[in-house]
Amino acid sequence: MSRLAVSTTDALRVTLAAPDDFDGWRDAARNLAASGVPADAVAWHIGTEEPELFGSDAPKRAAAQFPVPRNFVDLAADVVCHSDPERFALLYALLLRLRDNRHALEDEADPLVRRLQKLQKAVRRDLHKMHAFVRFREIDGRFVAFFEPEHHIVRRSASFFVGRFTNMRWSILAPDVSIHWDGEILTEGPGATRAEAPSGDPFEETWRTYYASIFNPARLKVGAMLKEMPKKYWRNMPETALVQPLIASARQRELDMIAGSAVSQEPPRAVERPGNAQAAWDALREQARTCTRCDLCGPATQTVFGEGPLTAPIMFIGEQPGDQEDLAGRPFVGPAGQLFNAVLEETGIDRSTTYVTNAVKHFKFVPRGKRRIHSKPDTGEIDACRWWVEQERALVLPQITVALGATAARSLTGKSITIGRARGAPLTLADGSECWVTVHPSFILRIPEEDRREEERALFVQDLKRVRMRAEELAE
Ligand code: URA
Repeated sequence: MSRLAVSTTDALRVTLAAPDDFDGWRDAARNLAASGVPADAVAWHIGTEEPELFGSDAPKRAAAQFPVPRNFVDLAADVVCHSDPERFALLYALLLRLRDNRHALEDEADPLVRRLQKLQKAVRRDLHKMHAFVRFREIDGRFVAFFEPEHHIVRRSASFFVGRFTNMRWSILAPDVSIHWDGEILTEGPGATRAEAPSGDPFEETWRTYYASIFNPARLKVGAMLKEMPKKYWRNMPETALVQPLIASARQRELDMIAGSAVSQEPPRAVERPGNAQAAWDALREQARTCTRCDLCGPATQTVFGEGPLTAPIMFIGEQPGDQEDLAGRPFVGPAGQLFNAVLEETGIDRSTTYVTNAVKHFKFVPRGKRRIHSKPDTGEIDACRWWVEQERALVLPQITVALGATAARSLTGKSITIGRARGAPLTLADGSECWVTVHPSFILRIPEEDRREEERALFVQDLKRVRMRAEELAE
């Protein structure tokens, strides 16, 4: 909703109902642009401040309107959520250009287009952070979270949380506005303070356990930590209560570790497994159950986490759970898993001594009738899930990681890898350990001609035999 008025200085003043009032901006902007009102003749305001100063005789409905490209509508819907006070005026200026040139938005060198795209990117980043960092606490059967976004994104995030937590009753409190879902209806209320949100519950304990257990002072990378989890959000995240004290004591702990290994009879390891790896892994898996890092969590039945001993010298990484894995909650139990098991047996690798997981932890599918058809995860989904894979690798510290297929190879290296070129010799991962790339068992299952299928199966066996021999060499 918007109100249009003529000010005493002849500027047209538009009052929008809220800082993210997209509909209000769109209605007013359409009418103004159709009437040819120049950008500098409009003053955009929010709320009810001083409306009585101005007359209400400005035109409400203007002359013929004009179509705008869909991507402009998407851009505007994002940009109105930004906290930049000039956002409405900037969008209006671009709308005027589009009236004369439908392709104005395609000019990526145009400073106005670039500035608006930058605002859009910031809003999207803020939304992404909100999806990842909101932490609910249960209070009397209702889940309540406090979150402080940088931009006016709380209403915009509502559909994500409704989709993700449809069956829960929840509230998200933020300084500007609060949103509440009762399982059927979404309502809105006034903003709130952090003090109004509850704090402290059993989940907090699992995160704390996890962080305390995995913290390895020798591998402290404060920059990377801050990038992954900007400090601004720490106050709402229980796990971060430990970060400052752990960083503060890191140097001393590193020295203690060095001193400890100097007298130890154990062969030196490139990297130490964290003290309480099992507790950390339990906490990690617990948290992965409610992962919302990407949208795949919505339709999938459950998170399928990795399994196997944390001392495993070999870690296998597949693509994502299939239909059967999604139902069973375990990796590689369906048809691809059966082929995988048979090949492991043939190559002399005992699956129970290995750690098996997937690059993406939720099943991505397209429903077709009663069937769910596998759909390949995209790079955004692989990148979102990489965090879990990295935590698993940090706990297991495998000497050899085997990427089963291109998705796993991308997750491990961050690059597109051609299997045919990469197989047969190890790549070196960032932590110095070896990564062997081979095909995914599903690739073999999908080959229609029996001869070719057998050939590919034999190559897969050959790859895994090499892996076994290398693991034996490294164990000597
Ligand atoms: N395919 C995979 O990549 N992983 C599984 O767990 C099952 C099938």
